[in-house]
Amino acid sequence: MMIVALFNYLLSFLIAHWNTESFAKDDFIYGQFPSYFRWGIGTSSYQIEGAWNLDGKGENVWDNFTHTSPSPIKDSSTGDIACDSYHKYEEDAKLVKSIGVDFYRFSISWSRILPLGTKEKVNQAGIDYYNNLINSLLHHEVSPVISIHHWDLPQPLQDIGGWVNEDLIEHFGDFARILYQNFGDRVKQWFTFNEAWVICVMGYGDGIFAPGIKEISETPYKCIHTILKAHARAYRIYDEEFKSQQKGQVGITIDSGWLEPSDPNNPEDIEASERALQFKFGMFASPIVFGKYPDIVRKRVDERSKQEGRSTSRLPSFDKYWTDYIKGSYDIIGLNHYSSYLVTPASSDPGPGWYGDQDTATSQDPSWPETGSTWLRPVPWGFRKVLNWIKNTYNNPPLIVTENGYSDLPNVVLNDYGRIEYYKGYINNLLKAVIVDGCNVRGYSAWSLMDNFEWASGYTERFGLHNRERIPKESVKFLKNVFRSNGFRRPNLPWDRQSKEQCDIAA
Ligand code: GAL
Repeated sequence: MMIVALFNYLLSFLIAHWNTESFAKDDFIYGQFPSYFRWGIGTSSYQIEGAWNLDGKGENVWDNFTHTSPSPIKDSSTGDIACDSYHKYEEDAKLVKSIGVDFYRFSISWSRILPLGTKEKVNQAGIDYYNNLINSLLHHEVSPVISIHHWDLPQPLQDIGGWVNEDLIEHFGDFARILYQNFGDRVKQWFTFNEAWVICVMGYGDGIFAPGIKEISETPYKCIHTILKAHARAYRIYDEEFKSQQKGQVGITIDSGWLEPSDPNNPEDIEASERALQFKFGMFASPIVFGKYPDIVRKRVDERSKQEGRSTSRLPSFDKYWTDYIKGSYDIIGLNHYSSYLVTPASSDPGPGWYGDQDTATSQDPSWPETGSTWLRPVPWGFRKVLNWIKNTYNNPPLIVTENGYSDLPNVVLNDYGRIEYYKGYINNLLKAVIVDGCNVRGYSAWSLMDNFEWASGYTERFGLHNRERIPKESVKFLKNVFRSNGFRRPNLPWDRQSKEQCDIAA
């Protein structure tokens, strides 16, 4: 047994490296991920659960936002029913199992557990719901991976200011503690926040997401500042009170596309690309890895604040206590990645605030294929580039790709060949990043289990491997084979016969 395993390992190593000696950035390679690599699929509470006011659940900011009139949602829809996962969690667990993944990444609706947002009132029906979901997953031998907060803040906490009120640090810590206490015996991987950039810039700056605040000048910075502290609080609570017994990991999910210099030979574009990456990924990664905001962000916001005649910078600072508390507050980092952008310096200054401080303009190459989302064009090689940038900038931290996915063109129903092409290209570039470049990626989770409520786009954009009726699309077969093969196995070798179908689609 041992000798066969060793032989197979050496062979796949040789094949991988023989394939990868010299390939162009769009070349397809065969090879497998390391044996520790884990595959998953994801969703989030507001996007799928429905049951917005059932069994003691309180109102959250997305309930409130989608119920405003006129509706800020493209098709005026809501998540009131969504995929009805509150009632269909057993079906969901079976569906997850049918794709052959190791884990399911889902989030907890804070208002379902704490209807008022605070620990004084715990809703037992909410605890029961997630216990049932977790137990169904385990019954199917799928590990639960939990995002503690995926944007659906309890409305009563918004009413006291939301993420600019530092009282939320302790409230978030209390919420996290309740989750560790109730589910930590079975849940070993936690992510505190999903894409805090989106909460703070799109929710508190542009106002196109809940809670709909349009204050781009200062508020996104304040929001980020509070969220980083709240993240660290939840990390430390686990570390001090639960880790020795529960032996799990806590991290944070950060989103970033790849930001390619428009002209790779133009130093201004190269600088703009680095600036854009630091304003996106670095705003969160730099504090948790190095204990401070990225130097370039610090310098620019401080300078511009001074020019505006302010006595203090619009970007707050961490004192010694918080610097030490935040620095190192991760066991793993989650990366959500979908697409790439071309970057140059902005042609004009929109004035004080997030965009003016960043001074970048982004676009996409019209030759990159279109999808059902205007912001998303498949650029598989960009995935490898962002993974390498993270590796080189943040000491190759342990990473899990917590989201990566494609939205169907409007005319596509179940024949989602565009999605197959997307996953083939992206997972292949992930393979290159791991086995050729040595990026420390430990797992990958596709977005999403099924079509669901896509935030301000309502149900007009569809990211699911299944539709909302839970019927599988074509891409399920493809991904299932990639997961089962732990990558892309070369066809036509006797020991690869069972993966031929996958390779036929892939090649
Ligand atoms: C992410 C978000 C998900 C999902 C996805 C597709 O930013 O975390 O909830 O909506 O985008 O747009």
